Amino acid sequence: MRYKNCRVLVTGGLGFIGSNLALQLAAEGAEVTVVDPCVPGCGGDPANIPASSGIQVVYANIGQVQRLRDHIMNADVIFNIAGEISHIQSMLNPERDLDLNTRDHLRFLEACREWRPGVRVVYASTRQVFGVPEYLPVDEQHPVNPVDYNGVHKYAASQYHLMLSRKGGLDAIVLRLTNVYGPRMSFTAMNQGFLSVFLKRMAEGLPLAVYGDGEQLRDPLYVSDCVSAFLHAGLMESSVRAFNVGGGEVLSLRQIAAISAGVAGLPEPKRVPFPAERQAIDIGSYYTDSTLFRATTGWAPQVSLEQGMREALAYYVRHRAVAGAAR
Ligand SMILES: NC(=O)c1ccc[n+]([C@@H]2O[C@H](COP(=O)([O-])OP(=O)(O)OC[C@H]3O[C@@H](n4cnc5c(N)ncnc54)[C@H](O)[C@@H]3O)[C@@H](O)[C@H]2O)c1
Repeated sequence: MRYKNCRVLVTGGLGFIGSNLALQLAAEGAEVTVVDPCVPGCGGDPANIPASSGIQVVYANIGQVQRLRDHIMNADVIFNIAGEISHIQSMLNPERDLDLNTRDHLRFLEACREWRPGVRVVYASTRQVFGVPEYLPVDEQHPVNPVDYNGVHKYAASQYHLMLSRKGGLDAIVLRLTNVYGPRMSFTAMNQGFLSVFLKRMAEGLPLAVYGDGEQLRDPLYVSDCVSAFLHAGLMESSVRAFNVGGGEVLSLRQIAAISAGVAGLPEPKRVPFPAERQAIDIGSYYTDSTLFRATTGWAPQVSLEQGMREALAYYVRHRAVAGAAR
């Protein structure tokens, strides 16, 4: 119970990753406050944090710092998970993505620096900052070359964390996550990625499809493994501050679809042509070299895709979350 009695702030804590993290922290005995206004179009849902969890929820944007002053001043650890994840949406409405992923974080981090100098902040960055991989697996030395505004804005925000840490204002750790999936992933938010599409269709009993030849590689990370990475990062001691974090299996989209279909008892997935707007921001194959994070923390992913999909599907069936129905 590493976080027992620890006062923890989780931004974006009504969303997919943030709510799973907040619930695990509460289970470990932490005093958890979640900050999340449920931004329209993102994956936040008040039902993700039941009242019985004892977690305090502040319905505020992280840029509304005056509302967060006491929470920031009292925090032992801050998990900064808030963000818009839709790559397509970032190309359709870049300024919205700029506000949510960059400007709000700048305000929030400046407030943390001023009111709680030196606080540990763990930031949820993304593999998308690397763009089309020049080599695989992608390690921390890989050049940064985003292919969409989301990647650019997330990279800027990660640099705010790192720059403020170099200056002693924060003690930040940046985790660049691969594709994460599991319970509490939104089925109704805009463009949350292929794993949420697969899970939604599995829960509805609808066949799966893959774009193109389906040979692109990915290393999906089950959300409990992702949460475990954040828990390690919240307490780790390290002079290195930015880490790549990926799943334990490297699979093609075709294999991911086939395993998922098998779990849900669906027919063999079909191949369909790549929609043009997706092809334009596709990064081809990606998988992570997590060696540095594993060696520094002892963390390792535990859940196979088959097991993770089984658990996630069981969650959605239990919660009747099909097609946005109320949980
Ligand atoms: N899900 C993935 O596969 C994945 C992969 C890489 C990185 N990430 C990063 O992890 C974070 C969480 O992703 P998720 O999948 O849980 O998404 P999500 O949409 O389910 O949750 C994000 C939450 O952040 C909130 N939010 C957005 N902007 C905010 C702001 N300015 N102030 C306060 N709250 C705000 C939203 O209301 C939402 O509840 C994101 O920052 C994303 O970039 C996710």
